[in-house]
Amino acid sequence: MKVLAINATYRPGKTTSRLAAKALEGAASLGAATEMVHLKELDIGFCTNCLTCYQDREAQIADCVLKDDVRGVLEKIRDADGVIFASPVHNGFVTGLMTAFMERATWTTLRPTGELMGLKGCPEPRLTDKARAVATLVSAGMMPAELRQYCDTGSPWLMEAGVMICNGSPVGDMYGGAVFPRELSDDEWQRAYFFRELSEAQEREAFELGKTMAQAIASGQVGPYDPMAMMSMLEETPEDNGEEGDRD
Ligand SMILES: Cc1cc2nc3c(=O)[nH]c(=O)nc-3n(C[C@H](O)[C@H](O)[C@H](O)COP(=O)(O)O)c2cc1C
Repeated sequence: MKVLAINATYRPGKTTSRLAAKALEGAASLGAATEMVHLKELDIGFCTNCLTCYQDREAQIADCVLKDDVRGVLEKIRDADGVIFASPVHNGFVTGLMTAFMERATWTTLRPTGELMGLKGCPEPRLTDKARAVATLVSAGMMPAELRQYCDTGSPWLMEAGVMICNGSPVGDMYGGAVFPRELSDDEWQRAYFFRELSEAQEREAFELGKTMAQAIASGQVGPYDPMAMMSMLEETPEDNGEEGDRD
């Protein structure tokens, strides 16, 4: 069993990386071989919209005119049984690095042969050799968990993109909301990012996320990408998801 974390932080070794490492530890505790890819350390060019990949209907991973490190990451996704997409929350979303990577993954791992609600030309997965477990993990510097819904449009987007490119289904997500050691003064609030601490509860939550992924893979609970299931999941309110923000 292989579990891969794709981490789009700009600061490898800091909050997002520590949480992602914990999640991988959790997966490893149940026997998974794990790997973390830090996108920042790779050469990831911007998609040029040349549509070479889009026009290739056959390849499992379509060719790209840019010869950088993206293909290697896509091959790691192909070989994985579970993928954790990790990013800091930047401007209420994921980092530009993550969106740059997802743009490159779009028509290289999807082909425009799908059909949904009468609309043809929709993306459908190319990596259909197996279904992969998908989880998201984001970390925030100011927003606490209970206010997540106002400042995390990244996680649902990341999950939707992730299950498509992985031909998989969601097994969990984690929002590492801002936790401060004490009440901050007004001045300190204006430097809140510097006070944000990783709590033990968050590290435990990340560890459990990795375990949940490994369990889902081991028990064969992971299904292939199902666009209708994803649409109904995205329509659910945070309350429906039981994510009203219990902070621990
Ligand atoms: C440009 C920028 C935008 C940010 N936007 C948000 C935000 O919208 N909400 C939030 O809670 N934190 C925000 N943060 C703080 C980061 O989410 C936080 O520091 C995160 O934990 C960093 O992860 P890292 O340690 O992996 O870099 C932002 C940070 C930067 C640099």
